[in-house]
Amino acid sequence: MYNAFDDAVKNKLAGLEKAGTYKHYRNLSTPMDAHADMAGQRGVVVMSSNNYLGLADHPAVVKGAQDALEKFGHGTASVRFICGSMDIHEALETRLAQLHGMEAALTFSSCWAANTGLIPAITGEGDMVISDALNHASIIDGCRLVGKGVGRAVYTHGDMHALEHLLKEHRYAKHRFIITDGVFSMEGNLAHLPAICDLADRYEATLIVDDSHGVGVMGATGAGVAEFYHCADRVDIITGTLGKALGGAAGGYVAGRTHVIELLKQNARTNLFSNAISPATAGGALAALEVMQRAPQLLKTLHENVAYFRHQLKEAGFKPLDGESAIVPIIIGDTAQAMAVADALLKQGVFITGFGYPVVPEGTARLRAQVSAVHSKADLDRVVGALIAVREEMGGF
Ligand SMILES: Cc1ncc(COP(=O)(O)O)c(C=O)c1O
Repeated sequence: MYNAFDDAVKNKLAGLEKAGTYKHYRNLSTPMDAHADMAGQRGVVVMSSNNYLGLADHPAVVKGAQDALEKFGHGTASVRFICGSMDIHEALETRLAQLHGMEAALTFSSCWAANTGLIPAITGEGDMVISDALNHASIIDGCRLVGKGVGRAVYTHGDMHALEHLLKEHRYAKHRFIITDGVFSMEGNLAHLPAICDLADRYEATLIVDDSHGVGVMGATGAGVAEFYHCADRVDIITGTLGKALGGAAGGYVAGRTHVIELLKQNARTNLFSNAISPATAGGALAALEVMQRAPQLLKTLHENVAYFRHQLKEAGFKPLDGESAIVPIIIGDTAQAMAVADALLKQGVFITGFGYPVVPEGTARLRAQVSAVHSKADLDRVVGALIAVREEMGGF
């Protein structure tokens, strides 16, 4: 029954609208690509998707999904330990494990589900989980879900002294876990894995890296930040998503040693009590992995595009945050202004989302541009041109 709760919700939403911080979904009427038809405009340049390799509508990926759909139907119709696993899930998991040089992998309905399933499943009384302050929300929530007697601590973003201090302080914990994003999603910078690996070795900690924005972007074969830093054999557990570079559909995974993956099959609640990813999603992701392996040019083009875009932005007087990934944030400051700049850019035919509080700390609202291998230099020039035009129109930002 409609009651005071409904009025309270409406008031809350009206408050967000008034503050200029309401998040409006933008509707696309074409596939996710370098350009899309959206918000009543044709051919908008999309700089706000994780489609880093342009595989979301790649013909081989669509075909991989179609073939799997034909062969296995639409889904498992239950969770895997109850109804069984399909060949396509196992094939994908074997391929993901190979990508990371791990013994095994397990897929989840999302990386959100992977992180929130993993952390409580592998920790127990007397353990300590140590997490970077800017880790993704799914890691934060995963840490919140740990059981009784599991300690949690957060170190200042990227601060190795702070991390070491915590490791020292908790050296008598039963087991220590360090967890970090590989690429930080709002900053675009990398976790300094060589230093983190050294600390993990020194203090006998298990290192978990969520490389959702690193896979398909970083490293010689797109295996991610650990490959980029040549320390893949020193990372214990990797989590990742199939919803970004690897085809852009949905799904996530954990890769690690066989016994850890077996434990997740027994204990990870987001796997035990939730359906498998659809066969089409698995088939599309497998095809995406195949394309990434067979067409290394895609990665090379992505890296060239990132370097070009950063250069053009700086030439035009913008100061993007430094970083090595395909995420290029430009700080605006005020949340409502970041949203207003994003709206003005869309009118210019460029889609870059503005992010504000509480997604990022107050006063650091930003535009987050994401570069793809399928952008042309002309697309990137058009984006910089639109940013200049909006800056003039708004008297600076
Ligand atoms: C670092 C990181 N981890 C996890 C996720 C969640 O991924 P998924 O969309 O597969 O749930 C994201 C998505 O934004 C992310 O950036």
